[in-house]
Amino acid sequence: STGKFTFDPGFMSTGACESAITYIDGAKGELLYRGYAIEDLARHCDYLDVCHLLLKGELPTPEEKADFDYVVTHHTMVHEQMVRFFSGFRRDAHPMSVLVACVGALAAFYHDSLDITQAEHRHVASIRLISKMPTLVAMAYKYSQGQPFAYPRNKLSYAANFMHQMFSTPCDEYVPNEVLVRALDRILILHADHEQNASTSTVRLAGSSGANPFACIAAGIATLWGPAHGGANEAALVMLEDLLAQGGVEKIGEFIKKVKDKESGVKLMGFGHRVYKNYDPRAKLMQETCAEVLQELGLGNDPLFKLAMALEKIALEDDYFVSRKLYPNVDFYSGIVQRAMGIPTSMFTCIFALARTVGWIAQWSEMLGDPDQKIGRPRQLYIGQTRRPITTPSTKT
Ligand code: SDX
Repeated sequence: STGKFTFDPGFMSTGACESAITYIDGAKGELLYRGYAIEDLARHCDYLDVCHLLLKGELPTPEEKADFDYVVTHHTMVHEQMVRFFSGFRRDAHPMSVLVACVGALAAFYHDSLDITQAEHRHVASIRLISKMPTLVAMAYKYSQGQPFAYPRNKLSYAANFMHQMFSTPCDEYVPNEVLVRALDRILILHADHEQNASTSTVRLAGSSGANPFACIAAGIATLWGPAHGGANEAALVMLEDLLAQGGVEKIGEFIKKVKDKESGVKLMGFGHRVYKNYDPRAKLMQETCAEVLQELGLGNDPLFKLAMALEKIALEDDYFVSRKLYPNVDFYSGIVQRAMGIPTSMFTCIFALARTVGWIAQWSEMLGDPDQKIGRPRQLYIGQTRRPITTPSTKT
């Protein structure tokens, strides 16, 4: 039997960190970036405004915006040798496996030129990552399609440039659709940061050892990949497509029954949250964005969107979900809108990673800016064997 240890009251320190970047009130369903409500930022700002806000603590003045956007835009190319890195992958590799590897590999290009104890160098690393993530995500997609990479275009906005790199070919230049570009920009804002979620905590822990920021972000991407975290948007869309194929709205009752049966292991993907015990404000904005995009594309009656809204309505009237405070989260509608925009399911989590890069790197930089910062060391509650002698004859003579 395992012995019981006694612990001093302070032992159960939650290991919480101090941060001034993002605030969530899970009970109220409130999300603030540096004090600004996500609803206001999503409606009145663009993603690079939000990047400036998360990194610097303030929205940019017009002059600051011009400078910030210029610097980000003019660092979107990756070192040409990175192109050769891709040829080692199978074409059907999951894009997240390619992204983890490529972002980690960026360390090889910027390792010795960065002294991350300097705030300015941390800012340079942050800009490099924000600039190059869209390029690497688009390259992962192009590689999976067997298409040539499309180089960034400096005259395009951040979101339009990403869409160009995803969908332009040498035969056809992508023509930005303003509604879709604005929708993508808003999707990036909604995913930009979310205080100490699993992937951000990974980046902070990796960064606390002084590891290279590119390696830390690669660790964050690996963590986000899980279906309980960033992989949920891909899983939620597959869940909705399967339900539609099985009969759609009239099969919702049967599906909900399966979800309630723990033995089935079936979860309502895109529902529930570790912190929100109310409606995730991002889910509402995502639903709005979804409706706008479908309208623009003449898909106002998209069966998948209708099914998702019917499923949400029925779930939110069912005591199983209400009693457990399970509401839609950011992932419930995000797959539907990205699919409508022509983004393949396999790319959803890559785009989540693209958007979250600024949150990860802002939190990493904030942590390293604390003069009292020490290497992270999560505590454990030991429940194993107490000390004991070897009584069974050891095989070793
Ligand atoms: C993200 O942390 C963040 O901020 C993450 C994120 C971010 O921006 O970084 O917001 C992004 O990861 C959003 C979450 C995406 N994941 C999913 O949508 C996957 C489905 N959701 C579940 O896996 C779950 O809701 C979690 C992991 C998201 C949250 O789990 P909790 O809060 O720890 O809740 P739990 O697992 O303890 O569940 C409490 C109860 C359990 O039932 P009982 O044991 O009380 O009987 O609710 C049930 C769970 O079985 N439950 C679900 C459910 N989620 C929880 N039942 C069915 N479907 C679900 N989705």
